[in-house]
Amino acid sequence: MADQHPPEPPNHAHAPVFGRRAREDQDAPAAAAIVVAERPGLAELANAGAVSAAALAAAPGGGLARAEIVDLRALCLSKMDATAVATLHPGRLLIEVERLVSDLATERRVQLNGREQRQLATELVDDMLGLGPLEPLLLDESINDIMVNGPDHVFVERAGKLVQVQVRFRDWQHLTNICQRIAASVGRRVDEASPMVDARLKDGSRVNIILPPLALDGPTISIRKFSKKPIDFQKLISYGSLTPAIARILEIAARCRLNIIVSGGTGSGKTTMMNAMSRFIDTAERIVTVEDAAELQLQQPHIVRLETRPPSLEGKGEVNARDLVRNALRMRPDRIIIGEVRGAEAFDMLQAMNTGHDGSMSTIHANNTRDALSRIENMVQMSSMGLSPKAIRMQVVAAVNVIVQVERQRDGGRRVTQVTEIAGIEGETQLLNDIFKFEMTGETPTGKIIGRYVVSRIRSSFTERLQYFGLERSWNEALAEIES
Ligand SMILES: Nc1ncnc2c1ncn2[C@@H]1O[C@H](COP(=O)(O)OP(=O)(O)O)[C@@H](O)[C@H]1O
Ligand SMILES: [Mg+2]
Repeated sequence: MADQHPPEPPNHAHAPVFGRRAREDQDAPAAAAIVVAERPGLAELANAGAVSAAALAAAPGGGLARAEIVDLRALCLSKMDATAVATLHPGRLLIEVERLVSDLATERRVQLNGREQRQLATELVDDMLGLGPLEPLLLDESINDIMVNGPDHVFVERAGKLVQVQVRFRDWQHLTNICQRIAASVGRRVDEASPMVDARLKDGSRVNIILPPLALDGPTISIRKFSKKPIDFQKLISYGSLTPAIARILEIAARCRLNIIVSGGTGSGKTTMMNAMSRFIDTAERIVTVEDAAELQLQQPHIVRLETRPPSLEGKGEVNARDLVRNALRMRPDRIIIGEVRGAEAFDMLQAMNTGHDGSMSTIHANNTRDALSRIENMVQMSSMGLSPKAIRMQVVAAVNVIVQVERQRDGGRRVTQVTEIAGIEGETQLLNDIFKFEMTGETPTGKIIGRYVVSRIRSSFTERLQYFGLERSWNEALAEIES
C-alpha cells in the first residue's frame, strides 16, 4: 500500500524537535546545526572537501549494508551542511550526526538499534573527516601496521603477527579517494601521473601509497603507526625483547659514545631500538638527526631534526640524505643520528663517525651483523668511485664500533639476537667479535621461542674507553649476568 502519510518536508518535521533540544541543552546545539535549510546539492559537500564522493554514495563494505540503512546514509549526507560540518569540532560533529541519524531514522521508520545508530554516525563522520574504514584501525593501539591491498584486503600487524581484518572499502574509487585525501593533507597529489606518495598522517604515522597501474590489485596503502608512547628499555624488557643485563650493555654502549649501527629486517624494531638507546645520550649534547620521514622521538633538549625532500612533480628540488648528512657535519653536532642508511650517505656517515662525531648512530636493513657490514661497504663502494675495497673496509672498521641485530622472530616477538663488535682488521679480513648472541634451544607448546645468550670470552677492543667512562666493571658484570 502506498504511504498514506508522506513525510513532511524535513525542516518542518524537525523544527519542534530541534527547538526543544536547544532549550534543554543550551551549550549543545541540536542537529539543526549541521542541517542545511534547503535540500542541498550533494556536490556542494564534495566540493567543500568535507565529504568524499564515495562517502556520498554508500557504505564502505564491512559497514552497515542493509538497503534501508544505505538509503538512510545517503539521506543524512544530503541534509548536512558542508560549512557547518567543516567548522564543528569532530567530537561535537559525531553527536550532531548521531542525532540526525536518529531523527531521520524515526522519520523514515527505519528500525535502528542503538549500536547501529552509533555505528552509522561514526562511519559518516569517519568518511567525512577521516580515513573512512581505516579510522578504527588507526585508533586501535594494539595495531602497529595497517596494510591495504586493494579495497577488499586489509591486514594489520598486532602483537608481531599479521592478520587479515574484516574492513573493506566500497570499491576502488572509495579507496582512491582516501588515498587522495592522505596525499592532499601533505600537499601532494596521487594519481596515474604520480602514483607513489610517502606521507605522514596528523598523528605522525608514516604512510606509503601506490596506485594502479603500478599496484596491480588496486590502490595500496601501507601505514606504519606512530606509537604515542615511545617504547623505552623498560618496555622492551617487559616485552621480552631484552633482558635487564642486555639493556645495561646497550646503555653503556650509548653512554660511552660508541658508534652504533642497529641492523635488522623491515619492521624488526630497528628504529624503536635506536630511539630507546638515544635516551642515554647526555642532555648537554647537540644532536642532529637526518631522516627520510621523521619518526625518531629523541628526548634531549638540544636537537636539530632534518628531513629529506623528494623531488617535485617536475623532478626538481630533491634533497637527499647525503646532502643532509654533509650539511649536518657543518652544524657543529656532537652526534649525528641517521634514521636509516640506504645509499650514498653511508660514505658521509663514516666520515662523520671518523671525524670526532663519535657516538653517532644509524640503522640498516640487514640479516645479521656481518651482512650489515658488507652492506655498508657496498653502499660506500657505489658512491665513492676510486676508493679501493681495502680502503673502504678500513674506513668501515675504523668508524663502526658495534652492530646490534634485532629480529622479529616467528613467534611474533622481537628480540635483540646479536651484538657484534668490530675489533679491527687483519689484512682484508675484519675481526668481528660477537659480544653475545642468541641461540634458540626450543619452543614452548604454544610456539614461543626459547633460547639462551652465548657470551664471548674475548676482551673488548674498547675496554679503554669503558675505563675512561668508568663503566668497565659495570660492563663486565652485565656480561656475566647475560650468560647466567
Ligand atoms: N621489541 C618490540 N616489541 C614490540 N613491538 C615492537 C618492538 N620493537 C618495535 N615494535 C613495533 O614494531 C613496529 C616496527 O618497529 P620499527 O622500530 O619502526 O621497525 P624498523 O625500524 O625495523 O622498520 C612499530 O610499530 C613498533 O612500535
Ligand atoms: Mg625504521
